[in-house]
Amino acid sequence: MTETTADPRGSYPPAAAFAATANAGQELYDQAAADRDAFWAEQAGRLDWQQPFERVLDWSAAPVAQWFVGGRLNVAYNCVDRHVLAGHGDQVAIHWEGEPGDSRAITYRELLAEVSRAANYLTELGLVAGDRVAIYMPMIPEAIVAMLACARLGLPHSVVFAGFSPTALRQRVDDARARLVITADGQWRRGKSAPLKEAVDEALYAHGGTPSSVEHVLVVRRTGIEVPWTEGRDLWWHETVTPASPEHQAEPFEAEHPLFILYTSGTTGKPKGILHTTGGYLTQTSYTHHAVFDHKPGRDVYWCTADIGWITGHSYIVYGPLANRTTQVVYEGTPNFPDEHRHWQIIEKYGVTIYYTAPTLVRTFMKWGRAIPTAHDLSSIRLLGSVGEPINPEAWRWYREVIGANRTPVVDTWWQTETGAIMISPLPGVTTTKPGAAMTPLPGISARVVDEMGEPVSHGETEANGYLVIDQPWPSMLRGIWGDMERYRATYWERFAEQGWYFAGDGAKLDTDGDLWVLGRVDDVMNVSGHRISTAEVESALVAHPSVAEAAVVGAEDPTTGQGIVAFVILTTEATDTGSALIEELKTGVAKEISPIARPREIHVVPELPKTRSGKIMRRLLRDTAEGRQLGDTSTLVDPSVFEAIRASKEAG
Ligand code: WTA
Repeated sequence: MTETTADPRGSYPPAAAFAATANAGQELYDQAAADRDAFWAEQAGRLDWQQPFERVLDWSAAPVAQWFVGGRLNVAYNCVDRHVLAGHGDQVAIHWEGEPGDSRAITYRELLAEVSRAANYLTELGLVAGDRVAIYMPMIPEAIVAMLACARLGLPHSVVFAGFSPTALRQRVDDARARLVITADGQWRRGKSAPLKEAVDEALYAHGGTPSSVEHVLVVRRTGIEVPWTEGRDLWWHETVTPASPEHQAEPFEAEHPLFILYTSGTTGKPKGILHTTGGYLTQTSYTHHAVFDHKPGRDVYWCTADIGWITGHSYIVYGPLANRTTQVVYEGTPNFPDEHRHWQIIEKYGVTIYYTAPTLVRTFMKWGRAIPTAHDLSSIRLLGSVGEPINPEAWRWYREVIGANRTPVVDTWWQTETGAIMISPLPGVTTTKPGAAMTPLPGISARVVDEMGEPVSHGETEANGYLVIDQPWPSMLRGIWGDMERYRATYWERFAEQGWYFAGDGAKLDTDGDLWVLGRVDDVMNVSGHRISTAEVESALVAHPSVAEAAVVGAEDPTTGQGIVAFVILTTEATDTGSALIEELKTGVAKEISPIARPREIHVVPELPKTRSGKIMRRLLRDTAEGRQLGDTSTLVDPSVFEAIRASKEAG
């Protein structure tokens, strides 16, 4: 492959050899610009429809879109069956790599048999289309099988990240009124088996034993750890799914049939159940996976390092890649077990060609040093992707240079749980990329960067930071917040209601060429290692402690994790301990209540919190303090001197 070098402005044009065979060319932009609906109809043609759609888009009930109206299809059929029917049954779908070093290769034919078994057993359990299923599993093949079996039967799944606490699981189970939980006995974490089934039991017995909507718990044996068991309710996967029939006929569902609910942090303590549906979601995940990653079925070996508990795992491990007949690596564990060589060994072992990860991990690799990846043959890699948070130019260059041998394209992909699929990204055979920029909306997607009033920001001025909005509906857009359509309207559509634009919650700027740089959240959502955590959620976990009267949480810049959680707390008069033991207890409390990801990096005990006259906590000022900056305008504060006190306690701490 030819090497491409940066042009003098530090940007990277695509290599001619790459462009020559790229899946996506300039013509896609032209086609989409000429006729958006026709463009999306063509992309929908990537899928097998049991009944063709009559209309591409019905936006009359905005902001709830209907895409591919009248069409019927089955997602699992599209992800599995059709590849087997087309003669690719022996192609490996999943190269699964367990953390302890065990591995499994699963062909499309085997995947079809597994998904069919699970679908047959879920049917036997009495589940019918529309029922919700919670999935709380580690990165094992059965997790993917469970998701596909649900999709096959029209059972919206709600995957809950296995690092979440029992409380978080219960909240999600209750909100969706799930009838079934699928889990595992335990999960491997750095050589130790962490209990998972036990956490499910704790969740189901929570709230003083108030019964939940869950009728059964289906358990995969993974680590062999002992599990608590409730006869009649609990079922072993190997005793129920494994012996079930491997034959199952998939029924088609309407294009707008709910496919899944995925909870994500909002600006209040209650997570939002983001609802995605069938035809539009699968169309856009398939199209973007094909165009952005330049994926060639049967030739590429693709690896997305996300967890199925997040949207990236849904769209770019399960649905997009499998719809495109991908051979992919799925890895169960952490990147540094048994040591920091693990990812590179896996890439060598399977000959990974496309690698998709988060900036926080790239920065971690940088910290570990380039000697680690350079000790391996990474020459199979031909494309690198990034997602989840803004990637700083330094990390971008390191990623390309050290992992991509200074020749592979890097695609920085911007999107959200709500958008369902990639929205803004380079196309690797077309775009001259710039380190740190998400560049331009994909063909078929329309976005703007605007000011408070909705006016376009000017190009190239740093003061001209604006809001990122999407001004046209897109196929994989969320269809609402589960059980709370009012919150859906208020959260995403109120800010620019007059214009009818979707507000993404992100700030962005346009450079002198008009290319887009995403700057991060402008609301009270933090982004820690690419995971969204709301300040309100952490605050409510903190005030749950009897010693805490009030808490304010901000995301402060962090060299590795993007943002780190910094909390300021005021103690109650009952608080006896005010020292490091209490701080430790509070940190652990948050980790337990939400997830270890939400564990604050720092907690400062302060005498007061900066508030406006209307009683709103001034987070901006707290962020300035947390990041050690000069304070901005404090004139709207009730008591500007409160900062002296905060600073004093911060320094003392
Ligand atoms: C951020 C993850 C800059 C952004 C797919 C967004 C990014 C939030 C990028 C969504 C990127 C994601 N550049 N920021 N390439 N990708 N983000 O829902 O703030 O977990 O709003 O979806 O991550 O996070 P979510």
